Amino acid sequence: MWPDEAELKRVHAQLTGLPPLVFAGEARHLTAALSEAADGRAFVLQAGDCAESFTEFSADAIRDKLKVILQMAVVLTYGAGVPVVKLGRIAGQFAKPRSSDTEQVGDQVLDSFRGHMVNDDLPDRDSRVPDPTRLVAAYHQSVSTLNLLRAFTKGGFADLSQIHAWNQEFVASSTEGQRFEDIAEGIDSALRFMAACGINLTAEDTLHQVDFWTIHEALILEYEEALTRRDSLTDQWYDCSAHMLWVGERTRQLDGAHCEFLAGIHNPVGCKVGPTASPDDVIALCERLNPQRAEGRLTLITRLGVDAVDTSLPPLLRAVRDEGHPVVWVCDPMHGNTFTAEGGQKTRRFDDIIGELKGFFRAHREVGTWPGGVHVELTGDDVTECLGGVEDILESQLHQRYTTTCDPRLNGRQSLDLAFGIAELLRG
Ligand code: PEP
Ligand code: CO
Repeated sequence: MWPDEAELKRVHAQLTGLPPLVFAGEARHLTAALSEAADGRAFVLQAGDCAESFTEFSADAIRDKLKVILQMAVVLTYGAGVPVVKLGRIAGQFAKPRSSDTEQVGDQVLDSFRGHMVNDDLPDRDSRVPDPTRLVAAYHQSVSTLNLLRAFTKGGFADLSQIHAWNQEFVASSTEGQRFEDIAEGIDSALRFMAACGINLTAEDTLHQVDFWTIHEALILEYEEALTRRDSLTDQWYDCSAHMLWVGERTRQLDGAHCEFLAGIHNPVGCKVGPTASPDDVIALCERLNPQRAEGRLTLITRLGVDAVDTSLPPLLRAVRDEGHPVVWVCDPMHGNTFTAEGGQKTRRFDDIIGELKGFFRAHREVGTWPGGVHVELTGDDVTECLGGVEDILESQLHQRYTTTCDPRLNGRQSLDLAFGIAELLRG
């Protein structure tokens, strides 16, 4: 893929000498948190951009994205009645797998855009040439993103009372407000109860700080390998580019390089599971990625589509359960529900997204397994990329604020709307 091999070598050597983004001990803590979700004692929220961008990069954008994720997490915590493990598709989510090597842009056929870690999305031939120095740029942007996330999540921005106040604003201004008032009121009375019991809501660390983890697709193995380090405490290998990594639907071949890489690291790992995966395929993936059957090690992220979920998911749940593989089941209701609108934009219907989630919960109830979490593409910005939701975005409005560098994301209001919807599913 990289035309300049010598430059790639130089960049690889450079990355190998740079500090890790995360510490192996953090990845172990995340595995422990995820093992609770495998057992039905926690719920997982994975959310963020489809592809982070080198150009749309600012403190405000990071803050607004984190804010939405934290708001969703509070609603889900209340709905699930268990801790929510919060992971951002951020600080490393810069590479995109593509179904086709080329794409039609206007009247030209160009090499596909592969994410800012590889090439540029501008519609000209030169911009599409893979440039290894982008790996270093992605590293530095990840470092500064993660630094700000750590500051926000430990420095007071994640205060529970504050997040709840933001949610109350949302409910007050939402046309669906009535429906969500019960949940908001439930959270409110829980907070008042704690205060009445003498818990100082502003001084209590657990109400003031949150654990926030990073996750991205381990697609560009040159980048991931260069940031893989041997942990001095355990002597084991960890990919220190993020706390958790996943293998995508297009690269999850059992004998492929991506599964081999994930099998060799000790971080918690995820694997996307699309509609073509049979129960045997999924069992084989479990054996490949988690032969020790360690709890919290493996998360299966199903992205089956609203039409297939009811028939495809229960057999997978039964097979994995019967084999005794401990996995966290997470629903990605985005990637099986993408289509191209009349105006040419890739989009998704809010109703299909909630529809696949309903199917996911139904399937788990039927089989008796725990619906362990959700995986969504979102932004805090007021974009018009997905159809429907509280503001009922129409196809004719998609062009108004369509800024994603890859797949369509839920905007802030749609994301919260979804979180309240999931809270209802968790409670019902
Ligand atoms: C993604 O998560 O952005 C993605 C490309 O997913 P999948 O591999 O499931 O298609
Ligand atoms: Co995507």
